[in-house]
Amino acid sequence: MCGIMGYVGPRPASPIILQGLKRLEYRGYDSAGVAVADDGVIEMRKAAGKLERLADLLDESAPSGRLGIGHTRWATHGAPTDENAHPHADPEQAFAIVHNGIIENFFELKAELTAAGRTFASETDTEVLVHLIADEYDGDLAEAVRRAVGRATGAYALVAMTVHEPDTLVAVRMISPLVIGFGDGETFLASGIPALLDHTREVLVMEDGEMVTITPGEVRMEKLDGTPVERESFEVDWDVEQAEKGGYPHFMLKEIFEQPRVIADSLLGRLDGTDVTLEDVTWDEEFERSLEKIWITACGTAFHAGLAGKEMFEGLLRVPTEAVYAHELRYRDPIVGPNSMTLAISQSGETADTLAGARLLHERGSRLVAITNVVGSALTHYSDDVVYTRAGLEISVASTKAYTAMLIAQYLLALRIGQSRGVLDTAMAMDVARALEALPGQVESLLKREEGIDEMARYLGAQLAEKDDIYFIGRGLDYAVATEGSLKLKEISYLHSEAMPAGELKHGTLALITEGTPVIVVNTQQHVYDKTVSALQEVKARGASVIAVAYDDDTEIEHYTDHVLRIPRTMDLLSPALSIVPLQLLAYHVADTRGLEIDQPRNLAKSVTVE
Ligand code: F6R
Repeated sequence: MCGIMGYVGPRPASPIILQGLKRLEYRGYDSAGVAVADDGVIEMRKAAGKLERLADLLDESAPSGRLGIGHTRWATHGAPTDENAHPHADPEQAFAIVHNGIIENFFELKAELTAAGRTFASETDTEVLVHLIADEYDGDLAEAVRRAVGRATGAYALVAMTVHEPDTLVAVRMISPLVIGFGDGETFLASGIPALLDHTREVLVMEDGEMVTITPGEVRMEKLDGTPVERESFEVDWDVEQAEKGGYPHFMLKEIFEQPRVIADSLLGRLDGTDVTLEDVTWDEEFERSLEKIWITACGTAFHAGLAGKEMFEGLLRVPTEAVYAHELRYRDPIVGPNSMTLAISQSGETADTLAGARLLHERGSRLVAITNVVGSALTHYSDDVVYTRAGLEISVASTKAYTAMLIAQYLLALRIGQSRGVLDTAMAMDVARALEALPGQVESLLKREEGIDEMARYLGAQLAEKDDIYFIGRGLDYAVATEGSLKLKEISYLHSEAMPAGELKHGTLALITEGTPVIVVNTQQHVYDKTVSALQEVKARGASVIAVAYDDDTEIEHYTDHVLRIPRTMDLLSPALSIVPLQLLAYHVADTRGLEIDQPRNLAKSVTVE
């Protein structure tokens, strides 16, 4: 989820690249850099931190060449430092590349290159690619790139240059986005349309497996297998703001729709059959076998992801698991026995309460595992292990894709630990792995399906926007999802909503249910399905207007509800990754109907770094 910019033309490249990166900065912001071909050398400027730091460097001394590449980084491998910032070059600085995505077989490639005597200046997966390109080069950059990417697996968009061909850029797209912009005697490459709009509106979106070679007089597109590609460019009529949001009216909606990609990225290179590889996890199998307790601590949406994790770890691993709000935990006197693991979950990795709660358990001897979206964030500094969530930069204050990525990280942990402990037999592990692999496609089809989950959520959202109080119920994992659905709704719509386990209703809240009170039920867990239906009948009998989230093939639910938001069937264990999607959309449409400031709700901040 980084930003890429490239330029070939008659003008000095650095200012054009910098301007493009500014337009892309929302995509990644922990470091940035440019490389420009200048008088037979590649000149690079790189800086950790915000883009202004790179701008300052370029103010001091900008390379004056007319071909170059640039990058803003959202770290996935290696902390956000000057060394890890892109572009990356080979030790001779004869080749440079920028890259967005993840190289799945990075460990193997790095080991191979190291054994062959190559040395690395950064911890990034990108650097292996530039070494591969240098290795493969025999006078034709395009051929070297083609052969190099043939050795790499994963998702990537990359742009490469070399001193040997100072008027050529070669770019490849494999899943991560890449767009070509056609100007007057100049050509641009970018990971997003916003970067191009100051210069041109004529663009061409590259497709997976395509490669482009750009020289001052020619743009040559082909497939990686060499087949030429002919595709017409088109005229973009978005303004820059619309373009930044990918054409969506709000970042929240864009981020909801990014979830299939986020889930796919979260699994990339980590799941092979039933084997789970987590790059920054260092414990051994013995630790997994001897695990006696799992603590989960977090706040807000991250806590709700942890609530789902608690249900899942206990159910699957049979390890006692306690999920505690970090702000509560930090002032408690927790009893931490031997062989425990603490999962501290935080999108930002900077939430003050989460840091304090996690630290307390760590000091008392629990192994601390950060689940976070931000490489090098405070939480990672004192954690023993880290599982990065790979959601990319989340801009909307209301978290959506980061939540889903947190679920996936926990599923991967459970699959791995369950097999080591012998509680997951091969068949069960296979079922979980297959269901995980199916998730990106299922979420994609849920978001795209013809009858339109988004349309349905818009229709229901308009009705709910008139209400004052909305209740969410569910049991087990469905309750965990209900808590997140309720939080999403209240934080952006400013309506009162609360979530409770379905069985709790009759112990008080039922008194609030009258004619037309909205009750939203999540009902996917088969072992408690009928129990939840009983709760539904109770609220229905008091006049509630019931919306259910249920599986496609559930033909019973409509007898007890007014509306059903359907999701594809999966293992019950994995349903939160699907059932949360309609609830996110519902919250979005309620807030949208009410005309509210969706991406920046009042009184809330994206990251709460004070107590
Ligand atoms: C809600 C939301 C917040 C955060 C919470 C923790 O949409 O975003 O509830 O989840 O402030 O933030 P992180 O995950 O950064 O620790």
